[in-house]
Amino acid sequence: MIAMILEKKIYEMSREERLDYIRKTTQISNDIELMLRPLSFDAANRMIENAIGVMSIPMGIATNFVINGREYVIPLAIEEPSVIAAVSKAAKIAKVKGGFVAQADDSLMIGQVQVVGLSNTKHAMSKILRNKKQLLAIANSNSKSITAVELQVRQLRDKSPNNMGNMLLVELVINTKDAMGANAINTMCEAIAPHVAEITDGEVVLKILSNYSTRRLVRCTATFDQRELGGSQIVKRILYAYALAYSDPYRAVTHNKGIMNGIDAVALATGQDFRAIEAGAHAYAARDGTYRSLTSWHRTKEGDLIGEIELPLAVGVVGGVINVHPTAKFALQILGVKSAKNLAIVIAAIGLAQNLAAIRALSSEGIQAGHMKLHARKFDH
Ligand code: MEV
Repeated sequence: MIAMILEKKIYEMSREERLDYIRKTTQISNDIELMLRPLSFDAANRMIENAIGVMSIPMGIATNFVINGREYVIPLAIEEPSVIAAVSKAAKIAKVKGGFVAQADDSLMIGQVQVVGLSNTKHAMSKILRNKKQLLAIANSNSKSITAVELQVRQLRDKSPNNMGNMLLVELVINTKDAMGANAINTMCEAIAPHVAEITDGEVVLKILSNYSTRRLVRCTATFDQRELGGSQIVKRILYAYALAYSDPYRAVTHNKGIMNGIDAVALATGQDFRAIEAGAHAYAARDGTYRSLTSWHRTKEGDLIGEIELPLAVGVVGGVINVHPTAKFALQILGVKSAKNLAIVIAAIGLAQNLAAIRALSSEGIQAGHMKLHARKFDH
């Protein structure tokens, strides 16, 4: 469907021609112009407090993406030049070897209820576990599709300098399906909180979701042909770049910042909570105690380059901003994704593509010549 023979490259097209390309390559029947109109002040004023206007940033499309055998046109909202050109170019190279292969976990999120002031934490833990069924039923009593599927308990020692003693964490594992799920999780945590206090005879303090969604990981991999990359020396230099990003947090932060250029831009275009994604991604990058690269890179026997990314991605295709922002709805229609898992794999692929483009430029001609200064129009994609 998307694989049209184009007379012009996307960057040579007028805006009208690009919109036509979107009409032809997607099933969008709505009025595109209307969906791309900036948010009205009234809508903005309903979304936040003390609104004074809206801040607009450019939205463009990345091309050449084949993910799990399907072609995608990917919308990105970003103010930084050359990211869209760079990811499109990387996706074009990936396509030579079949594109991106990705897989996402079920949408399992964690909600935490913190209990303090317990004389016997172990005893409180077993009391909670004895009441697990009832607590899960209470959590699920007001929710139709989103369900709490597990309840777990943890004992935690205060590591802050204030010596506040032992804590008990009662954690709900909630399947938020196609929603990001923050509101539903918080509601469930608040619903069980008074019962948790009563059962444990403790004091409940926090009741809130965790944005460290390690049960909601996404993985994406792609092979990049060494000739397309510029030869075996470039492959070797990219592996040196990865060695630095793996071994040194000063480089890893910049390496991952680039990855977030792609990830945040799709997240923003599709109405996701990109701050939650950022916080989770960076914590995951430091999961073994040292902040490292979110991607990993290896050479195949044939000398090609294989890249992988794995990170937590709590995204949704229903609820939140998507309900109120026509451009976010439109972005999801361009993508043609109907599930949170599908959106997550697209976002992971963008992150991997960005990283390949950045480290390839950095390990060859350098970023100033090869990336920053090259305006999108100069890329051949
Ligand atoms: C610039 O926004 C992002 C890069 O610095 C990422 C990187 O260094 O890998 C080019």
